Amino acid sequence: MPITKIAIFASGAGTNAQKIIDYFRNNERVRVVLMVCNKPGAGVLDRAAAEKIPTLILEKERFFRGDGYRDEIRATGTNLIVLAGFLWKIPSPLIQAYPKKILNIHPALLPKYGGKGMYGHFVHEAVIAAKEKESGISIHYVDDLYDHGQVILQAKCPVEETDTATTLAQKVQALEHRHYPATIELVATL
Ligand code: GAR
Repeated sequence: MPITKIAIFASGAGTNAQKIIDYFRNNERVRVVLMVCNKPGAGVLDRAAAEKIPTLILEKERFFRGDGYRDEIRATGTNLIVLAGFLWKIPSPLIQAYPKKILNIHPALLPKYGGKGMYGHFVHEAVIAAKEKESGISIHYVDDLYDHGQVILQAKCPVEETDTATTLAQKVQALEHRHYPATIELVATL
């Protein structure tokens, strides 16, 4: 089986990116080869530097009006793209170059609480405001619409009356860390 080479797209603290890196560190068949980021100074870049993973910083105009950096990403040998806290929409040239080879993790039970602007704390605040009894994570393929592609895995956690957006975020993050690397491995070995 060919080696799966992963590019992680992340723009925040990168706790999920770190879990993915750790999970595949000694894996002979799956390797993280690139960290793609749209935010100079993001915590995830320090993690990439510490792990000696090459980085690609995206410039907005070129990402959306050009080829979505398709050729640079291909040149690294990347054959699976994993979004881990990446908030820009993936442009068509990249989606076409990587059909069913781009995954996203979303901190809620899609199709609820998805779409543009629904990320991080905004999601958890909306879930609390709606008095939902449960929330969780969705791992899905990426298509041309925000938070829309086929769901691969969902995992749930209860939302208690005493929960705040902050405590809910912690529960959801624990689910992300537990499930994302193994789900990536599953897709990598399909
Ligand atoms: C994660 O909770 C991820 O689900 C969310 O950003 C966070 C990144 O955290 N993504 C979205 O909200 C996408 N719409 P991290 O930088 O610590 O991994």
